[in-house]
Amino acid sequence: MKSIFTIIITLFVSLTNCLDLEVGDKDSVCDAATLLIEGIMDYYEGIRPGGTVGMFQAPYYWWEAGEIFGGMIDTWAWCNNDTYEQMIYNALMHQKGSQNNYIPANQSTTEGNDDQAFWGLAVIEATERNFTNPPSDEPGWLALTQAVYNTMLSRWDTANCGGGLRWQIFQFNSGYDYKNTISNSALFAIAARLARYTQNETYVDTAEMVWDWLVDVKFIQDSSNGYTIYDGANIGTNNCSTIHTQTWSYNYALLLSGSAYIYNFTGNDTWLNRFSDVYTGIESTFVNSSTGIIYEAMCQESGKCNNDQRSFKSIFSRSLGQSAQLISSYTDRIMNLINTSAKGAAESCSGGSDGHTCGINWSYGSWDGWYGLGEQISALEIMQNTLVMQNAPPLTNSTGGTSTGDVNAGLTSRETSNKNLITVTSKDKAGAGVLTAIVLIIFVGISGWTII
Ligand SMILES: *[C@@H]1O[C@H](CO)[C@@H](O)[C@H](O)[C@H]1NC(C)=O
Ligand SMILES: *[C@@H]1O[C@H](CO)[C@@H](O)[C@H](O)[C@H]1NC(C)=O
Ligand SMILES: *[C@@H]1O[C@H](CO)[C@@H](O)[C@H](O)[C@H]1NC(C)=O
Ligand SMILES: *[C@@H]1O[C@H](CO)[C@@H](O)[C@H](O)[C@H]1NC(C)=O
Ligand SMILES: *[C@@H]1O[C@H](CO)[C@@H](O)[C@H](O)[C@H]1NC(C)=O
Ligand SMILES: *[C@@H]1O[C@H](CO)[C@@H](O)[C@H](O)[C@H]1NC(C)=O
Ligand SMILES: *[C@@H]1O[C@H](CO)[C@@H](O)[C@H](O)[C@H]1NC(C)=O
Ligand SMILES: *[C@@H]1O[C@H](CO)[C@@H](O)[C@H](O)[C@H]1NC(C)=O
Ligand SMILES: *[C@@H]1O[C@H](CO)[C@@H](O)[C@H](O)[C@H]1NC(C)=O
Ligand SMILES: *[C@@H]1O[C@H](CO)[C@@H](O)[C@H](O)[C@H]1NC(C)=O
Ligand SMILES: *[C@@H]1O[C@H](CO)[C@@H](O)[C@H](O)[C@H]1NC(C)=O
Repeated sequence: MKSIFTIIITLFVSLTNCLDLEVGDKDSVCDAATLLIEGIMDYYEGIRPGGTVGMFQAPYYWWEAGEIFGGMIDTWAWCNNDTYEQMIYNALMHQKGSQNNYIPANQSTTEGNDDQAFWGLAVIEATERNFTNPPSDEPGWLALTQAVYNTMLSRWDTANCGGGLRWQIFQFNSGYDYKNTISNSALFAIAARLARYTQNETYVDTAEMVWDWLVDVKFIQDSSNGYTIYDGANIGTNNCSTIHTQTWSYNYALLLSGSAYIYNFTGNDTWLNRFSDVYTGIESTFVNSSTGIIYEAMCQESGKCNNDQRSFKSIFSRSLGQSAQLISSYTDRIMNLINTSAKGAAESCSGGSDGHTCGINWSYGSWDGWYGLGEQISALEIMQNTLVMQNAPPLTNSTGGTSTGDVNAGLTSRETSNKNLITVTSKDKAGAGVLTAIVLIIFVGISGWTII
């Protein structure tokens, strides 16, 4: 229960210091972005003495940093503001790891396929937005994306459930026996974007394989309200047939944008139909029908979203923007959803001691008392995506993209097989196991897979 005192303070603060947003107006959005990023930086370790570049403070996990830098690349591009350029660049470079595949040693005892994929989504964003390239003796953003793609694809597991990626990369981690949609939908989206950027059909074939598997294993199901997309299933003894039926916005988001990229590249109507059915699923699952504003349906109303889930509206908003650009027949419909949600988000960013801390519930009309990194980045991404149509669509190799690639990136790195990937001493193993157990007990993991 909120005390009357909090309500009065909230009202006072929102009257005096409300975040003023005119959607689609570059100056207004970029001024708002400045304030929102100030809030994000409050959690950033990389600029603190002794802090690690590319990491946000506990309890925020490594994967979420990948989500954040991906979003901030869009801010950089659309606000033409280089204030954070070097910081983003340093983070992407520092966390790529010695194998240049986003399995840095510090993460390698806990990293899942989905974690790696979110850094992959950051570097494909850098590729498509012509973000400042690394020098020629370092791999380009495209090559880094290809390394993530190649290493993930090498873990494709046909021995169980007819295919698919497992949640975890490493056998000693809990969740190794779980196949989750997010790992697979993220590989799908990365493949789709590589296809469009490089014009290489092989990536379409991979995307198709991932999609077909998700349908085959019934993580994607058709209904009268478009597709319903579930969280995943344990391999167990019944071949992934006991499905965990949570529906998370990030899965819909990546299957939506991936379909948009493939349709935009191939012009094949099958992908427009798939896009359309995912979008219908989004409208019927994640949009508040009385306000027209997006929300995280599984957990928001019950107040149970964990730190990971509180950031999902961030990649969700980014995917909506990409789709608006790539599927012209949906532009107005999607922009209406983005505009309306962004206005709600701006009203929600009127809290905290700075007066522009963002809440979680964008239908609330003001700050709802929630705050955190996920709330900040989600608000940033929905607001800046009101500018998406004023900006160039994602670049490709033939429309001005300048990123250097390497189709074989990652293939020779030590991490490519899921057997004997890294040498782990039994002490590390025990440590990792305990850590994973604690993490699983305290939080519901990135997949949103509930253990209760
Ligand atoms: C979204 O807002 C922008 C800026 O006001 C406007 O140009 C655009 O037409 C709006 N789009 C929709 C579909 O509401
Ligand atoms: C660029 O961003 C910084 C930090 O977000 C902000 O202080 C500055 O005013 C911005 N510059 C312009 C021209 O908007
Ligand atoms: C790994 O951790 C060490 C010690 O905290 C830190 O100095 C280093 O920068 C980290 N490396 C990465 C890639 O995060
Ligand atoms: C296991 O599940 C997959 C995906 O649904 C299916 O293609 C395969 O035939 C199943 N295998 C067995 C042995 O049931
Ligand atoms: C369109 O895509 C579908 C699904 O990938 C595929 O089965 C079909 O062959 C494609 N059509 C053409 C003309 O390429
Ligand atoms: C958002 O806030 C409104 C107004 O208090 C409340 O009725 C609604 O249940 C909340 N919805 C979510 C999804 O949090
Ligand atoms: C692909 O996206 C571009 C950029 O928005 C757009 O001009 C083009 O019409 C799209 N192509 C298809 C087949 O929709
Ligand atoms: C939608 O928004 C309205 C108005 O704030 C609120 O009363 C309702 O509970 C919300 N529904 C959900 C599912 O959030
Ligand atoms: C990409 O960036 C390079 C280097 O900053 C610049 O010369 C080039 O014009 C940019 N291209 C596009 C399409 O933005
Ligand atoms: C674009 O792709 C072609 C064919 O793969 C390659 O030769 C060319 O170097 C690429 N251009 C850039 C800027 O990477
Ligand atoms: C297309 O991508 C595949 C998969 O990475 C690669 O093996 C192939 O060499 C690429 N083709 C071209 C022309 O770059």
